[in-house]
Amino acid sequence: MSLDLSKKPILVIGAGIMGTGIAQVAAQFGNTVYLFDSKEQAASVALKKLSESLQKLVDKSKITGEQFNAILKNIIPIDQISEAASAELVIEAIVENLSIKRSLFQELETVVSAQCILATNTSSISVTAIANGLKHPERLVGMHFFNPVPLMKLVEVISGLETNPLVAESIFQLATVWGKVPVYARSTPGFIVNRIARPFYAESLALIQEQVASPQVIDTCLKAAGFRMGPCELMDLIGHDTNFSVTSSVYEANFYDKRFTPSIVQRDLVDGGLLGKKSGRGFYSYTTDNPSTNDQVNTQPADSACKNLVLHGSGPLVDFFIQNLDRAGFVHTRKSHSDWVGIEIDGKTIRQTTGEVATALGEDVAVFDLCLNIGGDIAIAWAPSIRASQAWIEQCPGWLKALGFNPKQIQDSPGLIVARTIAMLINEAADAVQQDVCTATAVDQAMKLGVNYPQGPFEWLHSWGIKPVVKLLDSLSTFYRGERYRVSPWLRIRSYQ
Ligand code: NAI
Repeated sequence: MSLDLSKKPILVIGAGIMGTGIAQVAAQFGNTVYLFDSKEQAASVALKKLSESLQKLVDKSKITGEQFNAILKNIIPIDQISEAASAELVIEAIVENLSIKRSLFQELETVVSAQCILATNTSSISVTAIANGLKHPERLVGMHFFNPVPLMKLVEVISGLETNPLVAESIFQLATVWGKVPVYARSTPGFIVNRIARPFYAESLALIQEQVASPQVIDTCLKAAGFRMGPCELMDLIGHDTNFSVTSSVYEANFYDKRFTPSIVQRDLVDGGLLGKKSGRGFYSYTTDNPSTNDQVNTQPADSACKNLVLHGSGPLVDFFIQNLDRAGFVHTRKSHSDWVGIEIDGKTIRQTTGEVATALGEDVAVFDLCLNIGGDIAIAWAPSIRASQAWIEQCPGWLKALGFNPKQIQDSPGLIVARTIAMLINEAADAVQQDVCTATAVDQAMKLGVNYPQGPFEWLHSWGIKPVVKLLDSLSTFYRGERYRVSPWLRIRSYQ
């Protein structure tokens, strides 16, 4: 039976950003929290800062005076770990270093009782490796919080090879009591969120490296698809040094699997000290204005004199196109059973991407991106064939506007921006499930709560369909002939159904 840790004394080690946040949450839910840091006075200083920030919340009526008092009363800064010998759970949030974490836990085994559960908040180190050398490795578990701890709901509960399932269950239940949404994961590089999120950054960095699209256009299109922040502004916020180091550690931990190759675009930013918001410049400059998305171009209107306008395909997106064309008075016919979605104008076509580049489809052809939010004036990436006539290239934005989009021209490339990114997120999620890192439900919860994705990868898969996703990934794989785009066995096997 799992242990009920609610209201039990807890030792939090490391009074930095994470440790202080964890102590706050535990104290808020009635646990007595001993807070220890190896740096002299660090725990008391952290408590003083916490008190100041909580006072602001009282002033704004976000918490009551009683809550303020209860939280602070429950946190006891200590100078020696031995003062917390009665703790029934230790949560470690110290520096991200395997040998330092290992020796801390070995020391702890000489202080706390044999029943005390040991949890690590590591974001990237193997829980199995940290447990190596412990007398009781079965009591060590990962309890991975997200920053800022009081606000972020997700907790990844990570089992190493030796973790007792009842220990993981006890942590899962405690996280629930603390108002969090815990998900189980096996200890593998990046756990759930830091692994599955890699393509969100990697694909945008690849598009920038290939000069397919600017950071502004990439961010605009992915925000139009429902992401709260675009990947470039998000990397700027996280810091390119931090983001690059997570990518590099996942890459190394996977024996340099090309799937996780870091980007030279990002390494350049790191080497040049362009770390993002904290250094004043990354993809964007923060010393002048906010990220500018002013990429307006003059668009010539759709040619109402065209003779033969045909809508291809069916579904809500095509219905949306019809509404817009009807409203603007365009006469059109329809091929509902066409094997592509889009519009044909006197024999020239603008099609939704299925992964093939426009240039492979013909001369006066353009492709547009996956549309996850159907609605007026949604930013959408589009690209003409490199064989297209100038006249056709100039006409395309007008037609895309007539269909209801706010078109953003990029260079021809497979899967454009949104389709490529979402397909790769789904692919990574599928691999995680294939390798029993976690369940599909856990993936969706983790990505929505840990990194605020508008939907989970399996929810996207459900609405998009396995066959189109696999087709798009196969197109990427054929085009680049690289390991990055190999299709997850989980998707491949299901694509034959
Ligand atoms: P931090 O640098 O803000 O705090 C670490 C604290 O640990 C410092 O106060 C330091 O004096 C103390 N410390 C270092 N070695 C110690 C030792 N041997 N014994 C006792 N105290 C020691 O670091 P942060 O950001 O709070 O990260 C802590 C852990 O949480 C790391 O493992 C990190 O990977 C993980 N993490 C960090 C997240 C973040 O966004 N910052 C998110 C999730 C996990």
